[in-house]
Formats: sequence, C-alpha cells, structure tokens
Amino acid sequence: MALTFFFRDLLILHAIRDHVIPEIRRYKYINVWDAGCAMGPEPYSLAIIFKEALNSYEFKRLRIFATDLDEESRGFGKILRAGVYPEKTVKRIPEEIFHKYFTSSVKPGHYKICDEIIHCVSFQRHDLRSLQPVRDGFGLIVCKNVLLHMQETQREDIIKMFHRCLVPGGFFATEQIQRMPAELSGLFKQVRPNIRLFRRV
Ligand SMILES: C[S@@+](CC[C@H](N)C(=O)[O-])C[C@H]1O[C@@H](n2cnc3c(N)ncnc32)[C@H](O)[C@@H]1O
Repeated sequence: MALTFFFRDLLILHAIRDHVIPEIRRYKYINVWDAGCAMGPEPYSLAIIFKEALNSYEFKRLRIFATDLDEESRGFGKILRAGVYPEKTVKRIPEEIFHKYFTSSVKPGHYKICDEIIHCVSFQRHDLRSLQPVRDGFGLIVCKNVLLHMQETQREDIIKMFHRCLVPGGFFATEQIQRMPAELSGLFKQVRPNIRLFRRV
C-alpha cells in the first residue's frame, strides 16, 4: 500500500487555503487535479480544505479529479469510493476537522469520511507518463511525492503537460524537496520562496 495519510503536508494545505482558494473560488468551474493520489487521503484532505473555505454555492462547483497508476492489486479506486480508512491514516487531522467530517466505521479501527466530501472527488486510473492530461481547465494541480521517482526529462515533460492544462493563472503544488527545473522557470512563478506552490505565468 502506498505511503500516504490525511493532512500529510499542512504547509501546502494552508498555502492552498491562503493563496489558491481566494483566487479560484470565483471560477465558474473549480477543477482540481490530484495526480498520483494513491488511495485517497490527499484528495480528500484537499476537499476538506476547500469545504472549510467555500460557501455552499462555490462548493457545488468544485470537482477534484483524483488519478493514479493504481495497479490492479491495490484497488485504489474502490478504497477511495468507499471512503473508509484505518486509524493510522487519520491521526494528523486536526481534531475539530476530524469530528466534523468522519464517523466510526462498522469496520473496527476504521473511520468513514462523510458523503459530501466523497461526492466531490472522482477517481480514474491514469499514467502520467502518457503525457495526456485527464482534461484541461484546471485551477489547481497537486502532484506530490510522485515526480521525485522519475528521470529529469520525464519530470520536465510532465510539468510541461501540467502547464498546458492549467487555466492562465492556475496553480501547481508539489512536495517541498522538489525544485522547478531551470528550463521551465519561465512557465511558472513561485508563489512564496519557501513553499513549492507555483502559478502559471
Ligand atoms: C508515495 S505515493 C504519494 C501519494 C500522495 N500524492 C501523497 O503525497 O500522499 C506515490 C503515488 O504515485 C503513484 N504513481 C507513481 N508513478 C505514477 C505515474 N506514472 N502515473 C500516475 N501515478 C503514479 C503511485 O502509484 C503512488 O500511489
């Protein structure tokens, strides 16, 4: 099972809350792509951050497209749609958020995320190496702890694809240890020097 858990990267979630949501909440369609989402804690953490910030009309316009290679044996799509997670994956969730969005599952030691959050996230299998985006018109793309395992040229091609399918002024978030390749620096502007959140130029 891929290593992932809810509220894994508070720094980036807070940067999305403070810098991305105020910009993209006015879009007619608030489309977010979580590329390499594993079995769901990351896209659901994003959905909760949006839910906390948006009003009910805006939240209805939010669609999170969660994708992963998802080899047959791991069944990420099934896990994601059920929305039931073991205790060890929910430990980092701030307490008030946890009580608001989770209930005990019939499965011992597991918790179920509420339907309103489940319904704004859809899952599909997708290989980033295809260099074909799942759609275009994204206001935000999150791709964390995926690109670091790839060759430099492959990483650059994938980031170029992200650039193409973001709306002008759209955002791209990645893990803290990732650097924007020098030759792509003209495509994005870093939102804050210490955070790997970039804005399409
Ligand atoms: C360590 S997990 C990261 C999960 C989540 N993004 C996070 O940071 O918590 C890496 C995920 O990337 C996925 N992945 C690896 N190569 C991929 C590719 N070429 N296309 C799509 N997903 C890929 C893996 O299947 C795995 O679920």
